[in-house]
Amino acid sequence: MKDETKYELFNQARQWILEAGEEIRKSLDKPYQVDTKKDRKDLVTDVDKQTEQFLTRQIKSIYPHHKVMGEEGFGDEVTSLDGVVWIVDPIDGTMNFVNQQRNFAISVGIYENGAGQIGVIYDVMADVLYYGLKHEGAYKNGERIKRLDHNRKLEDALIGMNSFWSVPNRRLDETKIHQLIRKVRGTRSYGSAALEFAYVAEGIIDAYITMRLAPWDVAAGVIIVEEAGGVTTQANGHPIDMLQTNSIITCNPSIHREIIDGYIKLKPI
Ligand code: IPD
Ligand code: CA
Ligand code: CA
Ligand code: CA
Repeated sequence: MKDETKYELFNQARQWILEAGEEIRKSLDKPYQVDTKKDRKDLVTDVDKQTEQFLTRQIKSIYPHHKVMGEEGFGDEVTSLDGVVWIVDPIDGTMNFVNQQRNFAISVGIYENGAGQIGVIYDVMADVLYYGLKHEGAYKNGERIKRLDHNRKLEDALIGMNSFWSVPNRRLDETKIHQLIRKVRGTRSYGSAALEFAYVAEGIIDAYITMRLAPWDVAAGVIIVEEAGGVTTQANGHPIDMLQTNSIITCNPSIHREIIDGYIKLKPI
C-alpha cells in the first residue's frame, strides 16, 4: 500500500473510531438492550450493533469498493482477503461493557491482499488510542511505543490468560499450563482480547494466550504487536488465518518458542 493511502486511511479510521467512542460513552447514560447470541454468556447490545452500523456506513460512503468484515454482521460476507478489507469489532469486551462500563475497546484492522496495514484499538472509557502502521511502528496516544525488550525471561513475565485454563480443557493438556502458571511471575485476565494485544505491544504484559478468537478480535492487535517488535501465531506456532477462528499466542519473541515447546501440548482428539 502506498504511504499516502495508508496515512489517509488511518486518519479516516481514527476520526470515525473516536466519533464512535464518543457515541458509546453517551449511550451509557441511556437504557440499552442486552441480548444473548450462542449462549447466556455471549452478549450483544444495541450499542455493539449501532457502532458497527455507523463504522460500516462511514467506510462504504467513502470507500465503496472496500470490504468490511464485522462481528455483528452489518458488513459483507467476506470469503477472501483480496483487495482492501476492514476487519471491525465494534465493541471488544461486551461483557465488560455490560457489567463494568469500562475495559472495552473498538478494534479495526485494515488489510490489503491479506497483509495487515493499519491496526487501531481504542480503549473507549480511558480514551487511549493504540495504533500500528505497517513499517512505521506502534503508537499509544500519538507517542511511539518503545520496541519490546527481547531479553525478557519467562520467570519475569506476566501472561494474559483467562479462567478457562483453571478447569479441565478439552483440547489442551492443562497440567502443562499449570506448570506455566507456576513458572511465570504472574497472570492477568482483562476480558478484552484487543486490549490484551495492546498491552503486549506496550510491554505491560509479555504474552496473551487463548484458544479461540475470531478475526475481528485479533486483526488490529497483530499489526500493533508486530510493529512493537512482538509476534503472533497459533498456539502451535503456525501462522494465523485471518478468515478463520484461531488459537492465539501473541507475545514477546524472547519467550514465544519456550512457551509453545515447553507448555502448550494439545490433547489427541
Ligand atoms: C470477546 C473478548 C474476550 C475474549 C472472547 C471474545 P467480544 O470479544 O475479546 O476477551 O475472551 O473470546 O469473543 O465478544 O466481547 O467482542
Ligand atoms: Ca461478541
Ligand atoms: Ca471481540
Ligand atoms: Ca465484539
